Amino acid sequence: MTDSKRKILVTSALPYANGPIHLGHLVEYIQTDIWVRFQKQRGHQCTYVCADDAHGTPIMLKANQLGLEPQQLIDRVSTEHQRDFAGFMVGFDNYYSTHSEENRHFATLIYQRLRDAGHIARRTITQAYDPEKNMFLPDRFIKGECPKCGAADQYGDSCEVCGATYQPTELKNAYSAISGATPVEKDSEHFFFKLEDFEQFLRDWVDGHVQAQMKHKLNEWFESGLQQWDISRDAPYWGFEIPDAPGKYFYVWLDAPIGYMASFKNWCDKNGVNFDEYFEQGSDAELYHFIGKDIAYFHTLFWPAMLHGAKFRTPTGVFCHGFLTVNGQKMSKSRGTFIMAETYLNHLRPEYLRYYFAAKLGSGIDDIDLSLDDFRLRVNADLVNKVVNIASRCAGFIQKKFDGMLDSELTSAALYHEAVAAGRSIAEAYEKREYARAMREIMQIADKANQYIDTAEPWVLAKDENRATEVQACCTLGINLFRVIVSYLAPVLPQVAEDAAAFLNIDGFAWSEVEKPLLNHKINKFKPLMQRVEPEAIEKVIEDSKQNLQATAAAAPAPTDKAAGKMEPIADTIEFADFAKVDLRVVRIAKAEHVDGADKLLRLTLDLGGETRNVFAGIKSAYKPEDLEGKLTVMVANLAPRKMKFGVSEGMVLAAGPGGQDLWILEPHTGAQPGMRIK
Ligand code: 2FM
Ligand code: ZN
Repeated sequence: MTDSKRKILVTSALPYANGPIHLGHLVEYIQTDIWVRFQKQRGHQCTYVCADDAHGTPIMLKANQLGLEPQQLIDRVSTEHQRDFAGFMVGFDNYYSTHSEENRHFATLIYQRLRDAGHIARRTITQAYDPEKNMFLPDRFIKGECPKCGAADQYGDSCEVCGATYQPTELKNAYSAISGATPVEKDSEHFFFKLEDFEQFLRDWVDGHVQAQMKHKLNEWFESGLQQWDISRDAPYWGFEIPDAPGKYFYVWLDAPIGYMASFKNWCDKNGVNFDEYFEQGSDAELYHFIGKDIAYFHTLFWPAMLHGAKFRTPTGVFCHGFLTVNGQKMSKSRGTFIMAETYLNHLRPEYLRYYFAAKLGSGIDDIDLSLDDFRLRVNADLVNKVVNIASRCAGFIQKKFDGMLDSELTSAALYHEAVAAGRSIAEAYEKREYARAMREIMQIADKANQYIDTAEPWVLAKDENRATEVQACCTLGINLFRVIVSYLAPVLPQVAEDAAAFLNIDGFAWSEVEKPLLNHKINKFKPLMQRVEPEAIEKVIEDSKQNLQATAAAAPAPTDKAAGKMEPIADTIEFADFAKVDLRVVRIAKAEHVDGADKLLRLTLDLGGETRNVFAGIKSAYKPEDLEGKLTVMVANLAPRKMKFGVSEGMVLAAGPGGQDLWILEPHTGAQPGMRIK
């Protein structure tokens, strides 16, 4: 690494605009943010951009479900994402959206250049189609019975019960997860990016641009042969229309990485920076993408090939990280370890997690574990007891006895110089994303600083009027060591660094400034920089995370296993327009029967006054079928049909109660007539 000022552009993966940020996401944003803050602290011109990944079928359907336009949904989610990122001190220079004019421009340009150079093929393919919704179905939206174990309601690509993976066409009794209709096969012309044209280029590019573990993976991909990539989708689709193909849209993954360029272009235009200097071929700027290992294929094959084929520069590095486990297991909603960013921030300081992740992160793709006990002990031991303690042990004496003035020279200067010299190795560790090593080396300095203070015992010296100079000398060294340590931790702990700068009465922590100690310098009154992590706060995070789950589940049908008498939390507020979409009808239960093999369900034949519906209701624990026949009740008449193990359920009967025998269907006054709409 040279000392000259580098031009660096850094990105994190673009989160989908249909769900909240959780701790699993934050591994990456914190990892990237630390790296960016480090580069800035070193004096480089480093820019960090991101955006919401705003296109695709799931976002279109979710907006639809909520009665929103896609733009309204993505605006809402973008606000929430930016709030959460700011809460964790992730300091993007620009946060944008893939649904932007800049992105349309670059997606179109890249596509046209690839097409004109012969890298786009067209051919007709056959896919599953929903004949009711008139749309092609992505694999995730086809459900049915697992071809291996027969479990009902499994997705088109894999079974959550037995773990089998398969093609959607192999599902038994397949149905559309959107309408419940049986999919049909339909032909359509698609556009393909000819990845194989770039095999030699990619084989060469891989060297020096990906981690060693990823290189092995890429070699496997090369060996199994590079396939053409389907980059088009048919209307209805939420995305950019392909310029020369009305009714066809770019697949969300085509314009997602181009969103990096678009966000940067947007920033360049606002800041008078020349975009081309960063993206033209032969550019001397560096370009790094931080991503999760699950999306490596897109970033290490499609993306460099697209850029190269369209005559743009390619990435300097693609850095993959592993997944997050909590307490050694996959994050779990029922255990309360599926923790949203917002839930964490309601109870805990962001820097605790930033530090803990840093203490765990290496440069590889291994998963990292957030063990909640270890998290608390580690943060308290390292940050509170070790680092902050150095300042609190020395500041009072300097303040009270010397009016805040540090000594004019350093005694035990060797220790100070040792701390400064350690900065070289720590910087190298940050640069290589070996944060765990950086944290270890920083804590070694903190240990030495504490040992020095333990031995010097300023609190003993202070009792003796004749030894005042020794007190000042010892505390001056302590405060200076504290400054070095905070400077090294500044990429991880931005707020601590800011507060420490105010205490030390300095402008900030440019990396090389610690070479010059603070002498003859007046410091300010010390205020506690960090409180301990309390076990109760962690318990509250877990408790709230469980409640989040229940709030979601309360909106789901027939929860029958809740403890009697305990009210479930009220679900998230919905708009009146959403409620008004629910068509509630009075119905007469024409027939009620047991269902062979079902523990909880009764099959009801409901008369809506002219039309009958077959509905499965989870009320067997509370009603005998014969007691139900002839009763009036209320159903949701416009619920999409659901294929269940025992047949299709065409609606839902309303019932309330904690479960078991205590479950009651709604029974309207006998004057009500089947078919009446309830408003
Ligand atoms: O996997 C994901 O969450 C994607 N939204 C990441 C996109 S990264 C980039 F390519 F846009
Ligand atoms: Zn299965």
